Amino acid sequence: MCGIVGYIGSKDIKKILLEGLKELEYRGYDSAGIAILQNNELKIYKAVGKLENLINKTKDLKTEGFGIGIGHTRWATHGKPTELNAHPHMGEYSYVVHNGIIENFKEIKKELNDVRFISQTDTEVIVHLFEKYLQDLNDPLKAFKATIDRLQGAYAILLITKADPSKIFFAKKGSPLIVGRDGEEIYFASSDAPLIGHAKEVHYLDDGEWGYAQLGEVVVYHGDRAIDLDFKPLTLNKELAQKGGYRFFMEKEIYEQSDVITETMMGRIKDEEIEFEELDQEFLHGIHSIKICACGTSYHAGLSGSYLIEKLARIPVMCEIASEFRYKEPILQKETLFVVISQSGETADTLEALKMAKDAGLKTLAICNVDNSSIVRLADRTILTRAGIEKGVASTKAFTTQLMVLWMLALYLAQQKGIDPKKISRELEAMRKTPQALKVDPDLHERIRRLSKRYLHGHGFFFIGRDIFYPLALEGALKLKEISYLHAEGYPAGEMKHGPIALADPELFTIALMPKNLLYEKTKSNVEELSARDSTICAISPVAFELADDFIKVQNADHYMLEYYEMAVALQILAMEIAIRLGNDVDMPRNLAKSVTVE
Ligand code: AGP
Repeated sequence: MCGIVGYIGSKDIKKILLEGLKELEYRGYDSAGIAILQNNELKIYKAVGKLENLINKTKDLKTEGFGIGIGHTRWATHGKPTELNAHPHMGEYSYVVHNGIIENFKEIKKELNDVRFISQTDTEVIVHLFEKYLQDLNDPLKAFKATIDRLQGAYAILLITKADPSKIFFAKKGSPLIVGRDGEEIYFASSDAPLIGHAKEVHYLDDGEWGYAQLGEVVVYHGDRAIDLDFKPLTLNKELAQKGGYRFFMEKEIYEQSDVITETMMGRIKDEEIEFEELDQEFLHGIHSIKICACGTSYHAGLSGSYLIEKLARIPVMCEIASEFRYKEPILQKETLFVVISQSGETADTLEALKMAKDAGLKTLAICNVDNSSIVRLADRTILTRAGIEKGVASTKAFTTQLMVLWMLALYLAQQKGIDPKKISRELEAMRKTPQALKVDPDLHERIRRLSKRYLHGHGFFFIGRDIFYPLALEGALKLKEISYLHAEGYPAGEMKHGPIALADPELFTIALMPKNLLYEKTKSNVEELSARDSTICAISPVAFELADDFIKVQNADHYMLEYYEMAVALQILAMEIAIRLGNDVDMPRNLAKSVTVE
């Protein structure tokens, strides 16, 4: 996830671009850049790290008078955060900023064999492709159209060129892009926030829309057809705009999951197999077992992953809590692949566990959301989850994307082991439906909001599930604890009868995860035992359960992982709605920090 901005007009361009980027810094801050075209002169500035570095670098730049400009704040997906990899990317006389992932960039790069690429990014191909088409077609608009027609994947693009110095060319597919105007002046941004105070009205571009803008004019096409623009007045509240209209960042992040999971999968699911450019046979040679180490939510993703890898790839996996692992004098064997999972990449316990594994000479792999973080820098290999910045302290999209990487990893390892392609194909079919399973159904949200009022008191919650739904139960309980401050435990459903069932009474709330496709009857018996002892039951399942006091119906029931993902969303919403009713600060719960860099 990155942020882009653009401007055409006579105000101070540098100021508008940098202030716009400041509003988008939450979308990425490992590098930033701007390109300005004024008096037929192109100026470009880039800096690694926080936007502050770019602001310092451009201190003496004067940009009064008419001009056009584009800017970008980066969240690395291809290539390290360096100045060369920072946007805008340049050709000979054109500059581009891009948010998204160009899946076929390698193929395009091969075709452009006479071009010297200077970055490791997928984006750089766009500007070179544009200049090649411009040479052939001698028409910037046609060249831009020919360029976007070649791109596969997701993108929001702004391009400027000396060949047509009064225009910004733009295109959107899969990544957000908004065009705004105030009289003659034109603005672009990835979200509303940078436009507030500048643009009076905005048009939210739809997927497939592209075109150009110049002073006083915006022309948008869908395919070859020019479309009528639908400009609407812009909200005036900045904070609301940053939250995209949601009440909390956590809520926004819950709703974002359906889109970001597509970014996690992008370029990694190819026809009938999984490809990871981050892994290869040599790296995995000699590996007979896997150890996963992580904390909190990342541990729950890891534990879920351990079930998946054992099920699908038949490789033994142990998942451990990093703070425990460090002091237990673990036995580390060279044929074990050591996998750490971390949203932030800075969690002290996980980082220390990784150091121990490295010192013992193990091969290490990080599954992480933040490129260039301490964990990423230390691990031998990294698979980025591409969730974008997560602001809510309670992890949501970090969790579902981590699990997607683990599911893909399980299949990748299964492929390497030559496991039945039909089995892999069934998994891939389900995997492709994940964005749908993660899409929040407004009716479901409303139903959970209403039933949440019954769960504000009582003496505790048990979240129960079996198999991979046990780690999901742990995660559901953690979400509730973190933001509602109510006592909740995750438990394996079959283990309740070995002690905890003694607590059962109407004031004990059982949140039962009852997937249709995995051990339904077994879980049902465990829930019946609790119901017989008068526990209040909230069942989450595709199958109606007559003993449930409350029932949350799951719609995606073709595969247990689709049930898993839909249930994960339901649990996140349940925790959030209970916390809201209790009047808590959902995004910044008491006593917690987003990144735990102490032991
Ligand atoms: C999740 O909601 C938590 N805030 C917390 O458990 C978190 O997952 C844990 O601290 C690990 O963080 P990491 O993924 O950044 O390493």
